[in-house]
Amino acid sequence: MTQPALSHDVSPEFASAVRAGLTHAPQKELPSMYLYDEVGSALFEVITALPEYGVTRAEERLLTQHAADIVAHVPHNAIVAELGSGSGRKTRRILEALCKKRPTTSTTYSPIEISRTALQLCRRELGDLERLSIVGYERDYLAGLAEVSKRRSRDEPLLVLFLGSTIGNFGRLAATRFLRDIRGMLLPGDALLLGTDLDKPVPVLISAYDDPIGVTAAFNLNLLARVNRELGGTFDLEAFEHVARFNPDARSVEMHLRAKRRVTAQVRAAQLNVTLEAGETIWTESSHKYRVNEIDAIADDAGFACRQQWVEQDWGFAESLLVAR
Ligand code: AVJ
Repeated sequence: MTQPALSHDVSPEFASAVRAGLTHAPQKELPSMYLYDEVGSALFEVITALPEYGVTRAEERLLTQHAADIVAHVPHNAIVAELGSGSGRKTRRILEALCKKRPTTSTTYSPIEISRTALQLCRRELGDLERLSIVGYERDYLAGLAEVSKRRSRDEPLLVLFLGSTIGNFGRLAATRFLRDIRGMLLPGDALLLGTDLDKPVPVLISAYDDPIGVTAAFNLNLLARVNRELGGTFDLEAFEHVARFNPDARSVEMHLRAKRRVTAQVRAAQLNVTLEAGETIWTESSHKYRVNEIDAIADDAGFACRQQWVEQDWGFAESLLVAR
């Protein structure tokens, strides 16, 4: 049997992450950051429009209502960096409010994204804002932020946006560590606007991550499809089903891909042969849910003071403005 040629630009990081994750015992796993290739990013955009997934709309309502209030806490000459720009739709509210605050000078906005597709979407979405210069970084969050921080001049405070509850993908300890790493690149007075999805009843959470028309299932399965496309994998996608389950200890929703029968596959670029028993899963993502006062505590641990919080009550989402001490 002839094998299709591998795409020319096999990512060595992706290959070794797949190798490490699929040989991990007892729980096989794949890092959630790889969900966002061109197809995955498009599917996530659809997820944000699903009635069952209230996260994005709740945050949009908060930012629409409180943008002026939020930027009132930010120095007038701040530059803005964003970790994971997504489509840029929510960011627009903040940037518009900032530009309005300083009608003559221009504002620098640096989206930091490992997904080129997302960076392009974001440029398209925000390119029309006047007096905004967009300087994107195709890097991981910390490397990108280090770059932004290095390039700024001494008198330019930084506003870092970390929206959408992406922090939920980290475990609670890892989240604190990550905020501490961010803090390490900031100066006192710099700010971090952090979006977090809040605790809610389990059935609401489960339907948000296992919607009835199967968009989230497709989003999840695309990760294996991507392994097939980019790394010469031979996974039979039909043999897997999407599972969303609540982990009460971690207070997170976990996404898994479950083998419906015994499955064997090869991943050529990862030099890997893998077998899953019937019922065995690959863990692909966790979305941790937060309580409002937990955010204060984590911020404090990481060297920030929580200046103010805005809470959306209908869905349950918080925006917290943390200031580096
Ligand atoms: C983009 C990471 C915030 O965890 O809610 C949506 C991703 N996964 N549905 C989330 C996601 C399944 C989303 N984040």
